[in-house]
Amino acid sequence: MHSHNVLCIGSGGREHALVAAIAASEGLGVCYAAPGNPGMASIEKVQCVNLQATNHHEIVSFCKEHDITLVVIGPEQPLVDGLVDTLRQHEIPAFGPSAYAAQLEGSKAFAKEFMAEFGIPTAGSELFTLATDADAEAIKAWIQNQASLPIVLKADGLAAGKGVFVCETMDEVDSALEQCLASESLREASTKLVVEEFMEGEEASVFVLTDGYSSKILGVAQDHKRIYDGDKGPNTGGMGAYSPAPVVTEPLLKEIEETIIQPTITGMQVKDAPYTGILYVGLMMTKAGPKVVEYNCRFGDPECQCILPCIQNDFIHLCEVTVQQELDQVDISHSGASTCCVVLASEGYPASYPKGMKIQGIEDAESVLNVDGDKAIVYHAGTAFNEDGALVTNGGRVLTVVGQGSSLQEAVRHAYLAVEKIDFEHKTFRKDIAQKGLNRLQEQ
Ligand code: AMP
Ligand code: GLY
Repeated sequence: MHSHNVLCIGSGGREHALVAAIAASEGLGVCYAAPGNPGMASIEKVQCVNLQATNHHEIVSFCKEHDITLVVIGPEQPLVDGLVDTLRQHEIPAFGPSAYAAQLEGSKAFAKEFMAEFGIPTAGSELFTLATDADAEAIKAWIQNQASLPIVLKADGLAAGKGVFVCETMDEVDSALEQCLASESLREASTKLVVEEFMEGEEASVFVLTDGYSSKILGVAQDHKRIYDGDKGPNTGGMGAYSPAPVVTEPLLKEIEETIIQPTITGMQVKDAPYTGILYVGLMMTKAGPKVVEYNCRFGDPECQCILPCIQNDFIHLCEVTVQQELDQVDISHSGASTCCVVLASEGYPASYPKGMKIQGIEDAESVLNVDGDKAIVYHAGTAFNEDGALVTNGGRVLTVVGQGSSLQEAVRHAYLAVEKIDFEHKTFRKDIAQKGLNRLQEQ
């Protein structure tokens, strides 16, 4: 295998997991992480570089200067902005969907129309314009006359997880519409507004690797979006995850492949925009079967930290065959382990939180062993080195701690043993990650 220089875009826990998988691949020359984080910087053959994902020109120049043979993009914004298209124009292999294909995440209106066109099960919905108070009144009148509560309002564009409102009352509808019109960050994303039927059930996410034609399931996970135990409090980027998720049984996964994943991949071919990269399908397991809550055009964070450690294939090779549309030649080799990851956050997140708190105990956490002798893994997200060279907190989600095991119960036990070894002021985390999965296993 010839040597690869890889550029990975991003700085979170998800990208730390991606970079770790890249660094474990055979035939890596150097992996550059832009901008990376202290966790990535400590890996052999990894160098953090100060590149802006928004400056496509600068990224292309960097790739040419450093003989980059593969670019892996972690977050959604650069994908939606067309970084993959720019790189392809310069014949630089890039792992991820084109801007057109990334609209599955970047525009809820596009995703809803797409699912309607290809008969993919999802919540019924109606699309509105929301630019003025009169538009808001019209939406309210429509909800009162044509719909029932609870109802879900979704800003069309990317809104960093803040564009979805599940409304139980008309007062909540009022306040959601007001926020969309008043908030600077939401106004542009919500000039188109999707009003969607509320779906009842348990959520799960399926992570699919696809080259546009062939596809392979990498894993099934369940995220924990709310900040507090028992799914209470505001939404966050994700406070923990586990994989596999027992709510998605084998027959259900087969149904999801047939009714959702295959039609999505074929649909994108029909649109003349075969989807390459990771397709993240967020699902609601309703009484009427699995339905799509949302598509995302990249790995989930923290779900990625749960799934990638189980994938035993050479990761660069997986990306390479995907980019070259030869994924059909590869079988995914999964370790068979269960994993549970717990996000350690700074108190106050997802609102404001302190920074600069010294972090201790990561090495101790990483030497915690499970019964099979596997080590716990700690991925960095919001961390930095201070002026004295000490590792400190520098973000809302600070670290992701991953436990593995031959059962979910063992993975959870292992993750929390490691969590206890890490210390920083204002450390907070959910104590009930994977509880739904454990309950379900007990019932079976
Ligand atoms: P999204 O960003 O579309 O995933 O929405 C964020 C969260 O809102 C989801 O993870 C669900 O918990 C909830 N949600 C979104 N759409 C619906 C729906 N139609 N019915 C029930 N809950 C929903
Ligand atoms: N953990 C949810 C997401 O990455 O969107």
